Amino acid sequence: MSSTERPATVSSLLGSISDVGRDAARGGYSRPVYSTAELDLRSWFRDEAQRRGLEVRTDRNGVLWAWWGPEAEDSLVTGSHLDSVPGGGAFDGPLGVAAALAAVDVLKARGVTAGQGRRSLAVTVFPEEEGSRFGIACLGSRLLTGAIDADKARNLKDAEGNSYAELSARNGVDPRGLGADPEALSRIGQFVELHVEQGRGLIDADPISGGAAGTGFPVAVGGAILGHGRWKFSISGQGNHAGTTLMADRADPLVAAAQIILAAQKTAAARDGARATVGRILPIPGGTNVIASKVELWLDVRHPDDAVTAAIVQKIHGQAQIAAANEGCTVSLAEESLSPTVGFDVGLQRRLQALLPGAPVLDTGAGHDAGILASVVPSGMLFIRNPTGISHSPQEQVEEADADYAATALADVLEGLL
Ligand code: HGY
Ligand code: MN
Ligand code: MN
Repeated sequence: MSSTERPATVSSLLGSISDVGRDAARGGYSRPVYSTAELDLRSWFRDEAQRRGLEVRTDRNGVLWAWWGPEAEDSLVTGSHLDSVPGGGAFDGPLGVAAALAAVDVLKARGVTAGQGRRSLAVTVFPEEEGSRFGIACLGSRLLTGAIDADKARNLKDAEGNSYAELSARNGVDPRGLGADPEALSRIGQFVELHVEQGRGLIDADPISGGAAGTGFPVAVGGAILGHGRWKFSISGQGNHAGTTLMADRADPLVAAAQIILAAQKTAAARDGARATVGRILPIPGGTNVIASKVELWLDVRHPDDAVTAAIVQKIHGQAQIAAANEGCTVSLAEESLSPTVGFDVGLQRRLQALLPGAPVLDTGAGHDAGILASVVPSGMLFIRNPTGISHSPQEQVEEADADYAATALADVLEGLL
């Protein structure tokens, strides 16, 4: 970056990608991994990192690493993801990446230099954090840490039948190299992910300000991530004609699916702290005048206690079997991904609190790459205030002043940890 160029702010960096991957049908953004939109964001990241003199490399799991200083063991690493859920918000993922780039500008302006007398700093971008295309959340960080079998990952298929191996190869990542990478992991001394808060913690913690920028606390330190998992129900019935099939003669899997969705809602609502969601359902063949022959639906269940999560899924599965039998259908269940409740490194958490005096500690019900890395390296999170408290929706929001403050907060933390 030339000395005359004004350092970019987080909001200007996000503004420069605000048209990438807009979804006119759903609203918000749809940026699935290895889609044109996500690849455009990867190019944007490379350009912005190189403009700052960072050396950008792609590791054998497709994770981008932008290095300030030599690629060394025990470096300080920060970053997030650029892929999104369908119709997602502008900040989930990109806020952490943009804040890291802007934090490099802030550190340089302060005369801080990573890699010279201090640890190196790397900014990372993990692929497929949302699991929107291949079904498993945090796929990139799971591969890096060995938390998922590489063959299983290679053979994951998207809705069009592309395997993760094929798409990796098409995008310059040799699928034979996918898998645990202890050498890359050894370079992470500590990992800090900054992320938009996907809830109302910072607003509710400060009811007076109601979350208005410039008041109260715009940043929180991560405490723990709720355990969460994804299960796929496949319900099979008898496809038939909507007009010639009497009601008594039907085996309609969509009717069973409706009962399963209601059972999930009732079971979770009866358990403090539990969440169960069916956000995705696929009737096959999916015609208006056709009784479906099969229905696939995906269940997301979360609870602080992993045993309770398992018990909730088991109960819903039992109710699904009854519902299917009542409709003359059959049902099968497959676990797609599971992340246990994870607490962030307490020592690092305390350091983050000391570097951001007064910032509250918040647990989150949202999964993150930092949660996967936490099982192998000291990891922590920072959450930036979201005045709507809504996420995985176009209504996700961060006020400009809070977005720009994110760079300062992250720079304070990185300077203190380097
Ligand atoms: O699903 C989650 O919690 C995260 O946004 N991937
Ligand atoms: Mn998300
Ligand atoms: Mn995210």
